[in-house]
Amino acid sequence: MTRKLLVTSALPYANGSIHLGHLVEYIQTDIWVRFQKMQGHTVHYVCADDTHGTPIMLRAEKEGITPEALIEKVHAEHSQDFAEFLVQFDNYYSTNSEENRQLSGNIYRALRANGKIATKTIEQYFDPVKNMFLPDRFIKGECPKCHAKDQYGDNCEVCGATYSPTDLINPFSAVSGATPVRKETEHYFFKLSECADFLRDWTRSGTLQAEAANKMSEWVGEAGENKLSDWDISRDAPYFGFEIPDAPGKYFYVWLDAPIGYMASFKNLCSKVGLDFDEYWKQDSSTELYHFIGKDILYFHALFWPATLQYSGHRTPTQVFAHGFLTVNGEKMSKSRGTFITARSYLEHVKNPEYLRYYYAAKLNGSMEDIDLNLEDFVARVNSDLVGKYINIASRTAGFVAKKFDNQLITAQHAVIDDMRAAAQAIAEAYAARDFARALREIMKLTDAANAYVAEAAPWVVAKDETKTAELHTICSNALEMFRLLTIYLKPVLPNIAAAVEAFLNVQPLQWADVGQGLGAQTIQPYNHMVTRLEGKQIEAMVEANKDSLQATTPAKAEAVAKTPAKAEAKADTPAAEEGAYISIDDFTKVDLRIAHIVSAEHVEGAEKLLKLLLDIGEEKPRQVFAGIKSAYDPATLVGRLTVMVANLAPRKMKFGMSEGMVLAASDERGGPYILSPDSGAQAGMRVK
Ligand code: MSP
Ligand code: ZN
Repeated sequence: MTRKLLVTSALPYANGSIHLGHLVEYIQTDIWVRFQKMQGHTVHYVCADDTHGTPIMLRAEKEGITPEALIEKVHAEHSQDFAEFLVQFDNYYSTNSEENRQLSGNIYRALRANGKIATKTIEQYFDPVKNMFLPDRFIKGECPKCHAKDQYGDNCEVCGATYSPTDLINPFSAVSGATPVRKETEHYFFKLSECADFLRDWTRSGTLQAEAANKMSEWVGEAGENKLSDWDISRDAPYFGFEIPDAPGKYFYVWLDAPIGYMASFKNLCSKVGLDFDEYWKQDSSTELYHFIGKDILYFHALFWPATLQYSGHRTPTQVFAHGFLTVNGEKMSKSRGTFITARSYLEHVKNPEYLRYYYAAKLNGSMEDIDLNLEDFVARVNSDLVGKYINIASRTAGFVAKKFDNQLITAQHAVIDDMRAAAQAIAEAYAARDFARALREIMKLTDAANAYVAEAAPWVVAKDETKTAELHTICSNALEMFRLLTIYLKPVLPNIAAAVEAFLNVQPLQWADVGQGLGAQTIQPYNHMVTRLEGKQIEAMVEANKDSLQATTPAKAEAVAKTPAKAEAKADTPAAEEGAYISIDDFTKVDLRIAHIVSAEHVEGAEKLLKLLLDIGEEKPRQVFAGIKSAYDPATLVGRLTVMVANLAPRKMKFGMSEGMVLAASDERGGPYILSPDSGAQAGMRVK
């Protein structure tokens, strides 16, 4: 029976770059999808950019562009990153699409018709300068518990307390700095509290991993406990999103329309390739629906989303697969350590995406545990498994086939080959269960057996004996059949290498069923080396390039939206005072920071990231500085602004000319770079201390 599977990865926010943490998810899903496709199932893998919400609106405003222009730019970048990591979506769309607007509106109307929508007047903080209601993360102030200054509206990074923004002492808007005022507003709610019985069953019906099911059960509570509160699904203008039908000035909260973006991306695919949308989404659908997500967004996918689907007349997910977070060298990714690595930076330095795909696969076991990228281990593992073991089988035998047998193989036969075929089932089961680590362990065991066979048969010795030509032919044909089988098993992880092997062996794209059919008397192509060794210095260069010494101490903080009710995740990627090492005031005063007036700003021909700035810091002649802020700023919007620069950095000769200082900017995975602005009154040349 051919199964029909619709598979998704979470939709990345359209206000930041894809980094190695994201890739844990997209690579994992892609491997699973490729595996299922090799089984001959019908599989559609869709994703999209998650484009709505306050952070994206404000970021666009800061860059002086429309949100539409911002999300278009990011869409192009994300698509390129995913393509280069061989993440092969059948469709990569946007939540800011016509399909999504209609689906969101329809689902809302269906929920309303089912009596699941209510309105309530709530009191919220309002920024009187920006004229907007402020999400919790955009309100800061003094922690009510430990009195640390400059803490977020939802939790304190110093003492860890959680509270509501109204508890903050001396609150201020992170957008304008103004003191927020309390203001009443009408909000729309999804009556999640009425979905508890359904959710209690759904979360315990095999749709979630055991650890996730336990957590969700806690949130849902036992019958009669009434633990779930209604879900606030509206936001007031100004907001970048979809206006709610029959509710002018009210917009869907981004998390309402984001998962509907899965549907919208699929709908768009349907119109491109002629699929039946309803077959996949109607209530009694016999197709399968799988969502891969990080553990931080479980609440949305295991409670809100199934309830939304259920009460709007749709099918619910078959399973939700949650994974853990990436650590690098055992610690949270960190800008100051250079381990906050973007997809782009990896591609620039390491180049080969399959090294990372292989390493992640070797670590992923289908659980919600965090996974660690140990950079030393990464180099060792890739070189030993891929180059030293797997590719070695071909590189030690292919030359003889060309030289002595005119590229012609004979039918292979050997006990090791039989063992390899017999392992197909166990390997397939491991892949299907997302235990890629186990799949690779099995495959590497077989690879070791193949290498032992080649080492013992020693074709390089046999080749010297004219009377043993037939034996040499057998050895090489056997070895290449082993290589072919291993390639089938590794293909979900290493699609590019598999394609090179298919060309070398002169065969059609390998499917799982090809395990059963040997190569036979195949004519092959001359062998070209397929993978090179990974050098430790490539990794060192990558880490060095991502080190962000000064900027690391001024983390941008005001961007993330709180994703879980506990708001605990909000901290997840915020690089707080992680280093723990202090510097003395003398160290600090060595850095000469000055208010700089931006006299001119322009693009630099041939520079991808840089803008050329002329900065007046009260000296005779403005300084020329190349700043890596091109991705975030239109030069025209910079001219005339005041900002902060490091004035005593040794001048540096760059490809495009001398750089006589450095402009400070804040950034992390949520966005940036954002340059700094002094309060009004500051003058060019003033010292910052
Ligand atoms: N936009 C939401 C998802 C909406 S889905 C309808 C979002 N975006 S995200 O860009 O923050 O994250 C996208 C996915 O990447 C999430 O599943 C998230 O868990 C995952 N990861 C982001 N950082 C990660 C690590 N450091 N490690 C592992 N996965 C991580 O959430
Ligand atoms: Zn505190």
